[in-house]
Amino acid sequence: MRVFSLSSLFITLGSSLLFQCLGEIEQASSPPRGWNSYDSFCWTISEEEFLQNAELVAQRLRTHGFEYVVVDYLWYRRKVKGAYVDSLGFDVIDEWGRMMPDPDRWPSSRGGKGFTEVAKKVHGMGLKFGIHVMRGISTQAFNANTPILDVTTGKAYEESGRQWRAKDVGMKERTCAWMKNGFMSVNTKLGAGRAFLRSLYQQYADWGVDFVKNDCVFGADFDLGEISYISKVLTELNRPILYSLSPGTSVTPAMARDVNSLVNMYRITGDDWDTWGDVAAHFDISRDFSAANMIGAKGLRGKSWPDLDMLPFGWLTDQGSNEGPHRKCNLNLDEQRSQITLWSMAKSPLMFGGDMRRLDDATFSLLTNPTLLEINSFSSNNKEFPYITNTKCRCRRVRNRPLTCESRNPERNSVMGTLALGLTNCKDVEARGWSPKAIDDDDLDQVCWKEKSRNRDQEPFCLYKRKPLLSSEEYSTYKNHYDGKVHLLATKTTESCLGASRNQKLTSKESKRGSYSPCGWDANQMWELNHNGTLMNSYSGLCASVRKVQANSGSNGIRAWTATGRRGEIYVAFFNLDDDKAEVSMRIADLAKAFPGKNFSTASCKCREEWSGKDFGVVRDSLSAQVEIHGCALFVLNCTYS
Ligand SMILES: *[C@@H]1O[C@H](CO)[C@@H](O)[C@H](O)[C@H]1NC(C)=O
Ligand SMILES: *[C@@H]1O[C@H](CO)[C@@H](O)[C@H](O)[C@H]1NC(C)=O
Ligand SMILES: *[C@@H]1O[C@H](CO)[C@@H](O)[C@H](O)[C@H]1NC(C)=O
Repeated sequence: MRVFSLSSLFITLGSSLLFQCLGEIEQASSPPRGWNSYDSFCWTISEEEFLQNAELVAQRLRTHGFEYVVVDYLWYRRKVKGAYVDSLGFDVIDEWGRMMPDPDRWPSSRGGKGFTEVAKKVHGMGLKFGIHVMRGISTQAFNANTPILDVTTGKAYEESGRQWRAKDVGMKERTCAWMKNGFMSVNTKLGAGRAFLRSLYQQYADWGVDFVKNDCVFGADFDLGEISYISKVLTELNRPILYSLSPGTSVTPAMARDVNSLVNMYRITGDDWDTWGDVAAHFDISRDFSAANMIGAKGLRGKSWPDLDMLPFGWLTDQGSNEGPHRKCNLNLDEQRSQITLWSMAKSPLMFGGDMRRLDDATFSLLTNPTLLEINSFSSNNKEFPYITNTKCRCRRVRNRPLTCESRNPERNSVMGTLALGLTNCKDVEARGWSPKAIDDDDLDQVCWKEKSRNRDQEPFCLYKRKPLLSSEEYSTYKNHYDGKVHLLATKTTESCLGASRNQKLTSKESKRGSYSPCGWDANQMWELNHNGTLMNSYSGLCASVRKVQANSGSNGIRAWTATGRRGEIYVAFFNLDDDKAEVSMRIADLAKAFPGKNFSTASCKCREEWSGKDFGVVRDSLSAQVEIHGCALFVLNCTYS
């Protein structure tokens, strides 16, 4: 694999020689693969924990192509009382307003060394070192009005006869929507703004960083000025650094076309956690990006890859938590197989998120499945394949109408259709329609969607609202974070709170799954009911809106993807997104629709299914399989065309 020859070059030849070859090396020639600390540590990871994980990645996953180990966000935040994911004033910054690793968590950074020692150790393991950084400049540096380092002179940046400072370049009106206290954009139209960004990336290169995940600059947080300028700086540094963008809420292929050639990977959804709703939300968007030919399109010094986010398998923490790894992944084995199969068929970067120190055998064999990794690195023509049917559902013929399928779950066929909750801009009139409703309960009220005007056949869409449960001490610490905010619960008794990011859609029939997760204090679960009837989410700054969806479209149905292997084999994956078992079938002849130029009507294909290991022998007419709820089947076909 090309990625290997690169990392061994790095060790044996040393960096100076590598730089001379830079022009010839294609960056991210296949989807990058590695480990990221976020799903298991949130922001809290220490140097010791990071190096333990890196060592295990080197021992167990490196030979399977996992080469990047990435420290996710807030490595500069002191882990002390009162610090959390959107606190202000706990960060370690240098005299130039740049983030420095918290010396208590990252002892080797003392004496101004930053991540130099950690990067050295990671390189010594044969791996590459990555860090997460936020957009622009921190509020803390802005408030301190630090001077800006001009890396060309080594002194404070001066222009037009004066020294420029943080307050000249920070854009207070453009704070990061989901970390309002943390960071704001930098004005890249100003020489001083550009000098500031250059001083950051020069330092990352000096530390020995190989991968930068730049957050709050893409999707709903789009900052093309910063992305373009950083990309330019990265091409000018004498060190190859992979450039990754995040997050991906409401990303479209059109938006991605503005950036793909500037970067190596970019998220196309909001954060993915271990709920089935999150996994299911990736099918449509992956289909759209493959149809737009964005998979493996031109990128920074090489290629770029739409990124479906980390794989939250194994031993994890929770979003926004101050706690390290402490719980098992909530996806069952079928759901995990579906997730990694889609990620592989769509050629997403594969970044494992679980704690390596508690990597169980099932997770290890999923991550290292040779067929999936082969598909992920080397397949082509990756596309959704719509020519499939579910033969399991009851069929009935209505007079003068074609044969239709009736769902086994009668709820879904309700004449009224299903209500689906999504997120929209708070300025949209369609976001108005929420109102409080007192119920006969001391502790709880409801908040309901257009309760009065509803059709009388339809159940009102109501949620229970409750103040976040906090000790008085916690409340006083996080008062600003909580004031006026509520948690939303599906039922009176549940301890699961509604969270929201744009990739998550919640329907009224699905209130027990999808967007609910154990109640915590992360911004994702905080909602505020405004006087004008909008219901605003603190994490995204977006508002909840309810739309009626067609009967049955609340169920995601069955999906299939196809791709070609580098030895001419054909991969076919069936996915069952429904809550009923499915029997999925396709005609072999229809493969010609995905692979034009091949005549499948005379083909004979040898077929093997990956998860069952079952050899189907030669298949001629059709391919079908029972697919478990949320499960998948993965066929490898070897066809001869006579
Ligand atoms: C409703 O009020 C909020 C908060 O004041 C405001 O941000 C939003 O734009 C308003 N939306 C509409 C549709 O009036
Ligand atoms: C495929 O081959 C069959 C048998 O030779 C032939 O009848 C048919 O027209 C071919 N189809 C296409 C699309 O070329
Ligand atoms: C496909 O089958 C042929 C004939 O049996 C065999 O030679 C070839 O190696 C197979 N290819 C793959 C990719 O399995």
